[in-house]
Amino acid sequence: MAVFVVVIGPPGAGKGTQAKKLSETLVLPHVSTGELFRDNIRDRTELGKRVEVIISGGVLVPDELTISLVRDRLRHSDCMPGVILDGFPRTPGQARALDEMLDEDGNRVVLVPHIRVRDEVILERLTDRRVDVRTGKTYHLKYNPPPPSAEVEQRPDDHPETVRIRIAEYYRNISPLLAYYTERGVLHEFDGEQPIKVVTSQLLAAVEAKTA
Ligand code: AP5
Repeated sequence: MAVFVVVIGPPGAGKGTQAKKLSETLVLPHVSTGELFRDNIRDRTELGKRVEVIISGGVLVPDELTISLVRDRLRHSDCMPGVILDGFPRTPGQARALDEMLDEDGNRVVLVPHIRVRDEVILERLTDRRVDVRTGKTYHLKYNPPPPSAEVEQRPDDHPETVRIRIAEYYRNISPLLAYYTERGVLHEFDGEQPIKVVTSQLLAAVEAKTA
């Protein structure tokens, strides 16, 4: 059975951190729409030029652009055994489109971990987050400071005022998405304020229970 997992949660919940760990342990590709968009912006593609202002403003990219980006990525052969999706879907329209894509190959989403974190924790995590432009590694100025050799920058959407907009976008869209996956019996809640390792082991146990 192919293993399609959809990690959802507010900005800074640890979706990327946990999706990378699941991807390494389960040997499945990690597909983050945020990262795919940032790659396009860096490479100055037509898509990148269209979405740059939207993303730096902290609001969601329109469904049709996002769905087509994911559809192209899921066609790659490395996705056949399954994928750890991070940050997609974020709207019921995206969730329906994903189900249709998977259904074409007789697949389905097996688990949707919803990682919850309070707003004040999100703000602290994101406004002090820094990313090494050469390695892509993520640091935190206070809790995980970058080494002197790192060449770090702040994501344009990590400024406090944009983080607040991103949090509002999350709350605006999350209820129907949670309802969609609750109805399908795949939604599981996780406390994202626990240590990273604890969250990872809980997620792995949940995947195992769903795929045993
Ligand atoms: P995206 O890149 O997906 O941003 P996001 O959802 O706002 O999430 P982040 O990447 O900021 O946080 P994360 O949850 O991955 O946390 P992380 O692991 O880095 O999307 C960016 C933009 O692209 C969107 O705003 C939108 O414009 C567009 N977009 C993307 N997908 C879209 C879609 N489907 N539809 C429409 N538009 C879309 O962790 C954060 C920090 O916390 C790190 O420093 C980490 O080390 C630390 N940390 C993580 N876990 C813990 C822990 N347990 N304890 C302590 N610290 C922790």
